[in-house]
Amino acid sequence: MATKKTQIITLVCNKGGVGRSTTAINIAWSLANKKCNVLVCDLDAQANTSSSLAKNYQEDVIEDGRHVTNLLKSYGDSATDYLVDTRNPNIKLLASTLMLDNTEGEIKSLLDLNIFKLFDHFFNRKLKSEYDFIIIDTPPQKSSILTLNALLTSNWYWYVLSAEDQWSLDARIVSDKIIQDVRKLNPKIKPLPVLMTKFVNGSSQSVEMKKVAASEFKAGVFKTTIGYSSIISKSHSNRKSIREFSSGHRVAKNYDSVAMAINRYISKVKPA
Ligand SMILES: Nc1ncnc2c1ncn2[C@@H]1O[C@H](COP(=O)(O)OP(=O)(O)OP(=O)(O)O)[C@@H](O)[C@H]1O
Ligand SMILES: [Mg+2]
Repeated sequence: MATKKTQIITLVCNKGGVGRSTTAINIAWSLANKKCNVLVCDLDAQANTSSSLAKNYQEDVIEDGRHVTNLLKSYGDSATDYLVDTRNPNIKLLASTLMLDNTEGEIKSLLDLNIFKLFDHFFNRKLKSEYDFIIIDTPPQKSSILTLNALLTSNWYWYVLSAEDQWSLDARIVSDKIIQDVRKLNPKIKPLPVLMTKFVNGSSQSVEMKKVAASEFKAGVFKTTIGYSSIISKSHSNRKSIREFSSGHRVAKNYDSVAMAINRYISKVKPA
């Protein structure tokens, strides 16, 4: 049972394929292994995070209908009944499905009624009392109403950049504009240091990107980066976290170090 205030973290970057979903899955495992209770919320219709994390994706999510689309349409007041188990007892999942692509349009009427902060409503006090962290994975589209609502509920936004992909850094202009708007309605939101993924040791491009990000982003970058490795695609093919697939691998250790750095950073720089 969580004892401290729940920290809600939304992963951002409008560039696709930077490693947000990989990070959501593996940071959840690393935090859970440090005895934190974690809820992962997947707001991407690609559902990669969900199909990798869920214990029984077909049964619990597809057949039983416990997923974010049905939550959004429930007009209920808690996500609790829509959560599913993962293979880690300390991680629960609010899963997505391909259906989520159409859901945004369907729930527009809710938003037209100015019912913003959807997730404040679904992640109510009772639900939050059970989690130390809620990690929200987002789609790459810049106009996602769901991403906006996730940010409106979050304590932290967390940029993930792909170290060999200059365009992931260029994409920050779009995310920055969204965050600026979010701040008007959620002034407590703060940045976590940027996470550099797919970092190639010895590559001048990776080193340079990290340097630029460290100087351009207000919260800087996490010192630990996530190394580039084919273990990631292998773990995805097996629908497993790296911890399950190859527990001693250096990338699993990278995520463990980042989980510790997040805990340290949050206790140092508490959101208002
Ligand atoms: N550290 C890494 N080393 C090598 N490949 C990686 C690493 N992290 C992620 N990848 C690969 O990069 C691709 C994109 O990763 P991922 O799906 O996590 O990114 P994303 O930002 O969630 O993408 P999307 O925009 O599609 O949601 C995947 O094929 C994944 O296997
Ligand atoms: Mg993704």
